[in-house]
Amino acid sequence: MLTSSGQAATFFSVFNLAGAGDHVISSSTIYGGSYNLFNVTMRRMGIDFTFVDPDCSDEELEAAFKPNTKCVFGETLANPALIVFDIERFAKAAHAHGVPLIIDNTFATPINCRPIEWGADIVTHSTTKYLDGHDATVGGCIVDSGKFDWMAHADKFPGLTTPDESYHGITYAEKFGLEGAFITKATAQLMRDLGSIQAPMNAYFLNLGIESLAVRMQRHCENGQKVAEFLENHKNVTWVNYPGLKSNKYYERAQKYMPDGTCGVVSFGVKGGRKAAEEFMKHLKIAMIATHVADAHTCVLHPASSTHRQMTDEELIAAGVGPDLIRLSVGIESIDDILEDLAQALRSID
Ligand SMILES: Cc1ncc(COP(=O)(O)O)c(C=O)c1O
Repeated sequence: MLTSSGQAATFFSVFNLAGAGDHVISSSTIYGGSYNLFNVTMRRMGIDFTFVDPDCSDEELEAAFKPNTKCVFGETLANPALIVFDIERFAKAAHAHGVPLIIDNTFATPINCRPIEWGADIVTHSTTKYLDGHDATVGGCIVDSGKFDWMAHADKFPGLTTPDESYHGITYAEKFGLEGAFITKATAQLMRDLGSIQAPMNAYFLNLGIESLAVRMQRHCENGQKVAEFLENHKNVTWVNYPGLKSNKYYERAQKYMPDGTCGVVSFGVKGGRKAAEEFMKHLKIAMIATHVADAHTCVLHPASSTHRQMTDEELIAAGVGPDLIRLSVGIESIDDILEDLAQALRSID
């Protein structure tokens, strides 16, 4: 099911299962917009959320479940922390409690990770990112595996297992079965009432983007890996976060879930903190300064001088976005050009 944005896909995927009085477990390292949607807006709608560290112990995860828990939510590759989510482990825990696992697979894309094969029941994407890949549209998508047995947990999901008087008195799980119930309810009920449909022209552009997704992702990953290795060895770079680096905490897990590569997003710190990072940004010639990521064109952001510029260095560190942090979304340009651009901008802070 296509939606008008990734935010709409995230919202519909959870709201299709949980309403006022229900509870949802989410990984704490998810995209900031999703976190706010859950923690502020959906709380206002009466839905309770428990955020768990994706690397929490089994006991901590177990303790997060409540009798009214309706689903578990996580992000394959967290934006921007690039934490690799242990899909298989969370799927097992969710299923043991009779609820589905929803995975936001935006950064990995279906080319690099297939969450349903690891036990996820529902997958969402912001198609605004790699799926479109050309800055052309905003969009989202929900994919239902069709595997979750709603009737086996009928008491938990009355919206799917009892008649919907607003839609011909149909019981979605009976009428449409495992494969059709979730998406039919989301379309017939949520999209009917709330809109957020994907505009036809956007769907057309998205389709064009998807046709080259496999080729683009291969190049994003090759370029991302080379950039991460280059930065790791540069004297003006203090740290690099990229799950494709052997030194990365999530390297092994990334190899399990994304053996062909993760994505093109790399974050790193420059020597000299906020001032040096600002100087570095000024000298970039190819990388486009933008909050957007996952695009064919290399995009770069220094949160401390843009999206987070109102915060002090101390506040930035507490928020996990240090003053030296640069987020680079490596594009599909020639790797020689990208590296030369980074090299000359790094020389400016010698
Ligand atoms: C992982 C992830 N999920 C969802 C979204 C929201 O998508 P959209 O901007 O299409 O609403 C984003 C946007 O940055 C994202 O990075």
